[in-house]
Amino acid sequence: MLKCIVLLGPPGAGKGTQAQVVAEKLGSVHISSGDLFREHLRNNSELGQQARSYIDCGELVPDDLTISMVRERLSLEDCQSGALLDGFPRTPAQAEALADVLEDLDGEVSSVPYISVSTEVLIARLSGRWTCKEAGHIYHELHNPPKTAGICDYDGSELYQREDDKVETVKRRIQVYLNQTEPLIEYYRDRGLLVEVEGDQPINEVTESLFMALNASENL
Ligand code: AP5
Repeated sequence: MLKCIVLLGPPGAGKGTQAQVVAEKLGSVHISSGDLFREHLRNNSELGQQARSYIDCGELVPDDLTISMVRERLSLEDCQSGALLDGFPRTPAQAEALADVLEDLDGEVSSVPYISVSTEVLIARLSGRWTCKEAGHIYHELHNPPKTAGICDYDGSELYQREDDKVETVKRRIQVYLNQTEPLIEYYRDRGLLVEVEGDQPINEVTESLFMALNASENL
């Protein structure tokens, strides 16, 4: 059975940072809808061209485009070992679509860790974020710096700052999160799947809390 963990949390909460560690440890596939869109942007695919204007101004890409992209990814063979979803679902319609996709694939959402962080901290985190071009490894200039500035520790590729991490766009992304994604906290709490994780701690302590929450989650 395809078991899916859904990581919930605002922009900059640390979903991507934690997902990279957790997916490796659990042997699951890390699926980030933001990374999938950025790959389409880099390749200038038709989907990339459709998504660009939304991403650049911090709005959500329309549900139909997002859902079909994630459905396609979840249908690939490698997901049978389990999937860790980061950044999807982000609207109630996406959550319903995920449930339908998983039913078709004989899967289920096993746990939904919600990483909470205050808004001031989010802005500081995103303005100091650097990401590797090759594989998306995530750094922070103060909290998690690379050994050599501008170079990824893992693959030696160049680090860059995301276009949508400009302060004005970050503020819009947080607003969009509050309006459109926060309702999913209740959605998954009602289904007995939500586990809360305090995200305002050092990265390794968040990882520990996350594993404790996952281990305590009876559906895992
Ligand atoms: P996406 O790429 O998903 O961005 P996001 O959800 O806004 O999340 P981020 O990647 O910004 O943050 P994160 O929580 O992963 O934090 P990270 O670990 O990097 O989406 C981008 C855009 O794509 C959206 O705006 C939308 O347009 C579109 N999109 C994507 N999915 C969509 C969907 N489902 N529907 C519609 N549109 C969609 O950490 C941030 C920084 O903090 C890093 O520098 C990190 O080193 C640092 N850090 C992490 N944890 C800690 C810690 N504990 N202490 C100190 N620093 C920390």
